[in-house]
Amino acid sequence: MALTAIKGFNDILPGESGRWHYIEEAARRVFELNGFSEIRVPVMEKTELFCRSIGDATDIVEKEMYSFTDKGDNSITLRPEGTAGVMRAYIEHKLHALDPVAKLYYLGPMFRYERPQKGRYRQFHQIGAEITGVHDPLVDAQVLNMLTAFFREIGLDEPSLQINSLGCPECRPAYRAALCSFLEARTGDLCEDCRRRLSTNPLRALDCKVPGCIQATVGAPSVLEHLCTGCDDHFSAVRSYLDLTETPYSINSRMVRGLDYYTRTTFEMVTTLLGSQSAVAAGGRYDGLIQQLGGPAIPGIGFAMGVERIALLLGQREFASLPDLFIATMGAGERNAAFKLMHGLLKAGVRVEMDYEGKSLKSQMRRADKLKACFSVVIGGNEVASGSAAFKRMSDGIVTEAPLTVAGFEAVLAQGRGISPHHLSTPVSE
Ligand code: HAM
Repeated sequence: MALTAIKGFNDILPGESGRWHYIEEAARRVFELNGFSEIRVPVMEKTELFCRSIGDATDIVEKEMYSFTDKGDNSITLRPEGTAGVMRAYIEHKLHALDPVAKLYYLGPMFRYERPQKGRYRQFHQIGAEITGVHDPLVDAQVLNMLTAFFREIGLDEPSLQINSLGCPECRPAYRAALCSFLEARTGDLCEDCRRRLSTNPLRALDCKVPGCIQATVGAPSVLEHLCTGCDDHFSAVRSYLDLTETPYSINSRMVRGLDYYTRTTFEMVTTLLGSQSAVAAGGRYDGLIQQLGGPAIPGIGFAMGVERIALLLGQREFASLPDLFIATMGAGERNAAFKLMHGLLKAGVRVEMDYEGKSLKSQMRRADKLKACFSVVIGGNEVASGSAAFKRMSDGIVTEAPLTVAGFEAVLAQGRGISPHHLSTPVSE
């Protein structure tokens, strides 16, 4: 039987990886501009870390984790998300002692045993950012502005930002009780999962996609009407900071998150273009998490974006790294000159390709076209003798005579700049 990848685990092929670089580079640029530094944490952690942070009664912990016992009899889990591991590292390395305010970002694969479909995979990739140490709602707005700036940076005006507040341990119990009594009066209309979760995680009923549950929760009490004064003031301040910076958002009081650590502000970047996988990025505040994991009482807020979903939104735009120059040769006699020129140009940071196999001139030119080289040059006996050649701009056939040297081609390239893109990960067509 042919060996294939595991279901829900994807290969990112060369034609696609340019789009991934484009996304990752934009995220690094925007996050670093905002003062974030990268943190790299392991892809596996002790299972207990996720049970204690994400919550035992969540879908992720209940049924989606890749957990196993290793040879030393330890229960290990492939990380289903990034926040828990980053906060574990923050506590373990006492980053808070250096400065409680840490701005951290991370990117990499996450693993959830979900039913794969478009935009939902078992190995998927997140780019996330977390800020610790600030209670002030200003930082919530900064995080949301940074997320908005990222989508602007990659040229997407979809998705749109939705925000909510989930309250705090002081006001949530009363909301939970109000929601429970509302749901208990409609138990018969709820799906089996929601009925089961009534006692453990009743808020999930608001997020359930089963038509009966959607119908049964119409008119359910709103979390925003049950916030304590502190949470209400915090949420108003977040909104006023977003208004101040003219950041577009809408309020979605039915938004609940699939992880238990959230307090106060929560948010999602949602799209209508990916069917039921509408969240392209999501996050919120987690003021109790660090303490819950054994660290000091330091608040935090952050988000993670799904790279596969962003790549889908970027659609068929091509992100390729194209050669600046294709060097063709008339025959074997010119291969040394061509190879030397290529070596010099590569050293100078110019992307260059040549024929490796002594193919006919026609087939070399076909390859130059296929690779979408910006310029081509044909080296024959005359060019070697005169030390000069005709560099052809492939987009319009315009020819520039220049010395057959690194400096010669760099001068040609300088003239052509802005006409044809030749930078890594530049979008070259819509
Ligand atoms: P999350 O909502 O579970 O939050 O995931 C964040 C994003 O990861 C989602 O909005 C989605 O784009 C992507 N994603 C999640 N599951 C899949 C999947 N199976 N396939 C493809 N993409 C997926 C978190 O993970 C939190 N750690 C976010 C956070 C950071 N909150 C605070 N800081």
